[in-house]
Amino acid sequence: MEDSILFVGCGNMGSALVRGLCRDNWHKKFRFLLLDQATEKAKNLASSLNLEWVENLNNLKSSPRFVFLAVKPKDVEKALLSLRNFSQSVFVSVAAGVKIQNLEEFIPQKAIVRIMPNLCVEVGEGVVPVCFSSVVEVEEREDLLFLFSSLGWVFEAEEKDLDLFTALSGSGPGFIALFIEALADGGVKIGIPWETSLKIATQTVLGVASLLKTRGIHPAQLKNWVASPGGTTIAGIKKLEEGAFRGLVMEGVEEAYKRTKNIGEEGKK
Ligand SMILES: NC(=O)c1ccc[n+]([C@@H]2O[C@H](COP(=O)([O-])OP(=O)(O)OC[C@H]3O[C@@H](n4cnc5c(N)ncnc54)[C@H](OP(=O)(O)O)[C@@H]3O)[C@@H](O)[C@H]2O)c1
Repeated sequence: MEDSILFVGCGNMGSALVRGLCRDNWHKKFRFLLLDQATEKAKNLASSLNLEWVENLNNLKSSPRFVFLAVKPKDVEKALLSLRNFSQSVFVSVAAGVKIQNLEEFIPQKAIVRIMPNLCVEVGEGVVPVCFSSVVEVEEREDLLFLFSSLGWVFEAEEKDLDLFTALSGSGPGFIALFIEALADGGVKIGIPWETSLKIATQTVLGVASLLKTRGIHPAQLKNWVASPGGTTIAGIKKLEEGAFRGLVMEGVEEAYKRTKNIGEEGKK
């Protein structure tokens, strides 16, 4: 077995994982091999990071140590069938909603790890819940947890909870990007040029997240510090609450969770 990692699927998540791991120089410890059925994606990512891309799996002489599977849930079965020969590899799947039990049907040795990262892994600020199948050996677990630690906050989770995390941290960057866009649009509405407004909105969200994390305080406490009596912030908050801002965000998370469970069901068909 070779000390290599094969990345299958170099789309949004696959490329974020590769970039995140390269930031901490893991490509100098392992041989990174990139594969995508849309060959240009693997080629472009490989050339931007000076990595190798794989045109044909038959060109690989031995099992990679780890195989990262970052294809859409509907494409998992076909991808795994093409990887069956790698009997000694440990498979790491990021596919939302596709359970270890379903993945095991296509992988003879059943050494499977499910992770549910988000796109922030690219900058080492992701959330990475991890779930190991029982046959993954202790040494492999430890090595993978160390590897994942380059991607952000890593924690072991029960598989039943992964769908919950998919809705919160997996979809979360989409919700927050929408909020930042809306905040920046608000700036434009009152006369700030878009580029400046976007920079201010992005830095504000980054600063608030960092402050909450560093101080370990409840968000309501920070809100109260900002909202002085009869002031500007409380006037803005009143308007947001008239539109049921918090209820709507909560419903968004709930809707994402329902959809994750549906995707899992579709993946079994
Ligand atoms: N994006 C996120 O924020 C996020 C968050 C958490 C989890 N995930 C999970 O990550 C996985 C990938 O999502 P994504 O957003 O990165 O999708 P994506 O951008 O569509 O990337 C998937 C890539 O895999 C390729 N592919 C499909 N079947 C293949 C095969 N058999 N062999 C090699 N390559 C193959 C696709 O090619 P084609 O374009 O030709 O189909 C595409 O380039 C999904 O299972 C998703 O649930 C994503």
